[in-house]
Amino acid sequence: MTTTLVTGARGKVGRGVIARLHAAGHSVRAASARPAELTVPAGIERADLALDRPEAFGAALRGVQQVFLYPQPAGIHAFAEAAEAAGVEHVVLLSSSSVLAPDAENDPLASHSLLVERALADSDLHCTFLRPDAFASNSLGWAHFIGQGLPIQLAHPDAHIAPIHPKDLADIAAEALTGDSLTGSSLAGSAPTLTGPESLTFRDQLAVLAEVLGREIPVERISRSEAEAQMGRHMPAPVVTSLLNLWEAATHGPAPVHDTTLTLLGRPARTFRQWAGENTAAFVRP
Ligand SMILES: NC(=O)c1ccc[n+]([C@@H]2O[C@H](COP(=O)([O-])OP(=O)(O)OC[C@H]3O[C@@H](n4cnc5c(N)ncnc54)[C@H](OP(=O)(O)O)[C@@H]3O)[C@@H](O)[C@H]2O)c1
Repeated sequence: MTTTLVTGARGKVGRGVIARLHAAGHSVRAASARPAELTVPAGIERADLALDRPEAFGAALRGVQQVFLYPQPAGIHAFAEAAEAAGVEHVVLLSSSSVLAPDAENDPLASHSLLVERALADSDLHCTFLRPDAFASNSLGWAHFIGQGLPIQLAHPDAHIAPIHPKDLADIAAEALTGDSLTGSSLAGSAPTLTGPESLTFRDQLAVLAEVLGREIPVERISRSEAEAQMGRHMPAPVVTSLLNLWEAATHGPAPVHDTTLTLLGRPARTFRQWAGENTAAFVRP
C-alpha cells in the first residue's frame, strides 16, 4: 500500500488532507514540528519533522511513496535528496499563486514558495504544484477585533481577492495524491492556480461576516503608515511592504477567478459565505 507523508499536520490544509486520505483507507504518516500537539484520527502514525531540520528527514521518509509538502526553503534541497533516496515517487506542494507574479523572486512572500518549487523541479521527483490564492481562513485575523466589537482598520478595504476555502484545497490535494494511479491522474504533475468562486473586496468579506454573524462590523480606512505600524508588530517589515503593495495593486479591479475546483473535482468551489457560516464561533467573544 502507498504511504503518504503529510507535513504541516497541524495546519488547516494538512489536517484536512490527513482526514481525507485516512477516511478513504490510505496509509498516512502525519508529520509536524510539534507532533505531541497533533490531534489526528486513532491509528495514524506521527513523525517529528520540522522542514528546516534535515536530521529528521530520513526517519520521517522511510517507507514513504508520496509527500504532501508545506513550503520551507530552508532545507528544501536536503529534503528533495532525502525523498529521492527514500524512493518517494510524487510530491504535492502547497505552493502559492504569488509565484506567478513578475518579480516573484525578489518578493519575500512569493520567493518562499518559488524557491521550493525550483528545488523540486531540479530534482528527479514527480511534482504537483498547487498554487492557491489567499485563503478564506485569513479572515480569522479579524476575529479578535470582531469578537471585541472593535472596527476593522484597513489601508486598502477595497482590495479584491478571490478567497479559497481550505477544504477545497484539501479536496484537491487529496485528489492529486489518490487520483487514478500514483502519478497517473490528470492533476498529478500539473501546476494549477486555485481560487475561490468569486472576487470579493475586504469590505465585501466583512459584509458577509456581518450578515452571517447578525451584527454590524464597522470598517475604518487608515493610512499606509498607520497600517505599517500595526502590521509591523506581528511580522517583519519586508513582509508588511509586500502585503501592502499586493493589496494596493488589488484595488484596481476584480481578482481573477479560476474554475479549477469545478474542472478538477466536478463541483463548484465553496463560497466565502459558506466558510463564514462554518466558522462563526471564532468571531464570538469568548
Ligand atoms: N494563507 C494564505 O492565504 C496562503 C495563500 C497561498 C499559499 N499559502 C501557503 O499555505 C501555507 C499554510 O498557510 P496558513 O498560513 O493558512 O497556515 P496553516 O495551514 O494553518 O499552517 C500553519 C503551519 O504552521 C505550523 N504551525 C505552527 N503553529 C501552529 C498552530 N498553533 N496551529 C496550527 N499550525 C501551526 C504547522 O506546521 P506543523 O504541524 O509542522 O507544526 C502548519 O503547517 C503557507 O506555507 C503558505 O505558503 C497560504
